[in-house]
Amino acid sequence: MDILGIDIGGTGIKGAPVNTETGELLAERFRIPTPQPALPNAVADVVQQVAAHFGYTGPAGVTFPAIVKKGIIHTAANVDGSWINVDAAALFSAHLGGETTVVNDADAAGVAEMRFGSGKDRPGTVIMLTFGTGIGSAVFHDGELLPNTEFGHLQIRGKDAERRCSERVREEKNMSFKKWAKIVSEYLETLEKLFSPELFIIGGGVSKKAEKFLPLLTAKTHVLIQPAKMQNEAGIIGAACLARR
Ligand code: BGC
Repeated sequence: MDILGIDIGGTGIKGAPVNTETGELLAERFRIPTPQPALPNAVADVVQQVAAHFGYTGPAGVTFPAIVKKGIIHTAANVDGSWINVDAAALFSAHLGGETTVVNDADAAGVAEMRFGSGKDRPGTVIMLTFGTGIGSAVFHDGELLPNTEFGHLQIRGKDAERRCSERVREEKNMSFKKWAKIVSEYLETLEKLFSPELFIIGGGVSKKAEKFLPLLTAKTHVLIQPAKMQNEAGIIGAACLARR
C-alpha cells in the first residue's frame, strides 16, 4: 500500500510517499527546514506543506523525536517544551485531513531497518541506535518492537549518553572519530551487559560515515555491529509502515 511518511527532525521535516510492501520511496523526498521555534502549529503547517507537495490525501505516518504514546507527546528532550501533552496525532490529522499515526523517530527508523535493511531476518535481540541531534533507540526481539526505549538517556559516568556522544556533540566538540568511538564503545558495552543483544545497528546522521568509525567500534565490542542501510530515509519509510490503515 502507498502511504505518506514524514520524518520530523531538529533541522528538517522530510517526507515522501512509500510503498510499504517494498520500502521504496515512490517520489524523491521533499524537505523543508524545521521552523524555529518549532512550536506545534508551525510544525503542523510544515507537515501539511510536505503532504501538499505530493498532492497527498489519505493515511499518513509521522515521526517525532520524543516518547509518543497513542499519538500524545510525553517528553521534550530536544524539542520545544510546549509539545508536552500535545495530541500530535489529532493535530496532524486535522492538518492533513486523513488519519495520522505518530511514532518515535528512532522506533520508525528501526522498523524500516528490520523490514528492509540491516536488521532483515535477524532473530533475537536487535538494538538500533540513531546518532543525530540526540541519541534515539529502537529495541526488537524476534522482529517485535518494544517502543519508546530512550537509551539516549542512559547515564554513563553520570551523564546522559546523548550528551556524551550524539553526532551533534561530536561535531560541536570537533571530536575525532577515534575519541568518539572510544566513548561510544563504553556506551555499547553498557548496553551489551544489560541486554545481551545479537546485533547493534548504528543509524542517524553519523551512519553516512560508517567506514570512518565502524572498524574502531568493532575492535572493542563483542556484539555484531552494522551501519543502517537506509540512512536518511529510514524514518520516512518506518513511519509509513507503522501508519494505521
Ligand atoms: C529523545 C528521543 C529521540 C532521540 C533521537 C532523544 O533526546 O528523547 O525520544 O528518539 O532523541 O531524536
